[in-house]
Amino acid sequence: MKSIEEQIQELKAERGATILAHNYQGDEVQAIADFTGDSLELSRKAANLTEDVVVFCGVHFMAETAVILSPQKTILIPDPDSGCPMADMVNAAQLRELKAKHPGAKVVCYVNSSAEVKAESDICCTSSNAVKVCESLGEVEIIFVPDRNLGGFVAEKLGKEFILYNGFCPTHERIRDIDIIEMKKKHPEAVVMAHPECNKPVRDLADELLSTGQMCHFASESNQTEFIVVTEIGINYRLRTENPGKTFIPINPDRAVCPNMKKITVEKILWSLQDMKARVTVPSDIADRAVGCIQRMLEIQ
Ligand code: 13P
Ligand code: SF4
Repeated sequence: MKSIEEQIQELKAERGATILAHNYQGDEVQAIADFTGDSLELSRKAANLTEDVVVFCGVHFMAETAVILSPQKTILIPDPDSGCPMADMVNAAQLRELKAKHPGAKVVCYVNSSAEVKAESDICCTSSNAVKVCESLGEVEIIFVPDRNLGGFVAEKLGKEFILYNGFCPTHERIRDIDIIEMKKKHPEAVVMAHPECNKPVRDLADELLSTGQMCHFASESNQTEFIVVTEIGINYRLRTENPGKTFIPINPDRAVCPNMKKITVEKILWSLQDMKARVTVPSDIADRAVGCIQRMLEIQ
């Protein structure tokens, strides 16, 4: 009998499909993916697809972004319930209300948002380019949705006040400053790499604030050999496989887990290719209004 992995490889070739995975996916999913990356790397990949079918192993807004950028392709998500609670914290009506209160402001939306929120925004950003994106807008007032932590981090970096929406990532919110303090006592030489979705007390204890893709680059370029990794557990798979001589210490391995990212399994990837489900779609009127906001971000290098 063929293994699940063999069946996936066969079906992938038959369907002309590729498997994209976010850095927070489980180890087995990352092992079978053709490409694993952070939100920006996945968006760039989705904008330049050569295959007709993509099995998108990530949360729903990521697959939606791929649909908006490549509407002619078939984008499948192996578990349609794999959503992002932070993205669900703001909807288009709430954003319109905020815009009405600040008519002169530009809206920057974190890519962790729905297509309808992107359709109401001026420009999108990810955690790896948020500073550059906001900087590109010049002196204008900025409404930042939905992540108060990423927005707070950027505002601090630019020495500005943002109009911050009160959203957050429940997984990163579970990481506390005391966790870092305790871990630092055990590993005083380790470099603390934290994700900007962490709250301020945690961010203040970090040596480096990086997106998941930036963590991979930083760790491989660094002369240091020990790192405390302050983000979702899944990133440790890439960090370890790409840097065999270095040590990565995950913070709170039992709590820093995104249950939505972990809904996707190797079995569900196989079923997705067998049944060509679940196909992700975005109504064309929303996609047409959202595409500019994502493309403007991709134009910023
Ligand atoms: P990045 O991979 O861009 O760092 O994003 C983290 C995240 O929370 C995605 O949901
Ligand atoms: Fe959303 Fe946080 Fe999960 Fe990323 S880690 S998908 S921001 S809940």
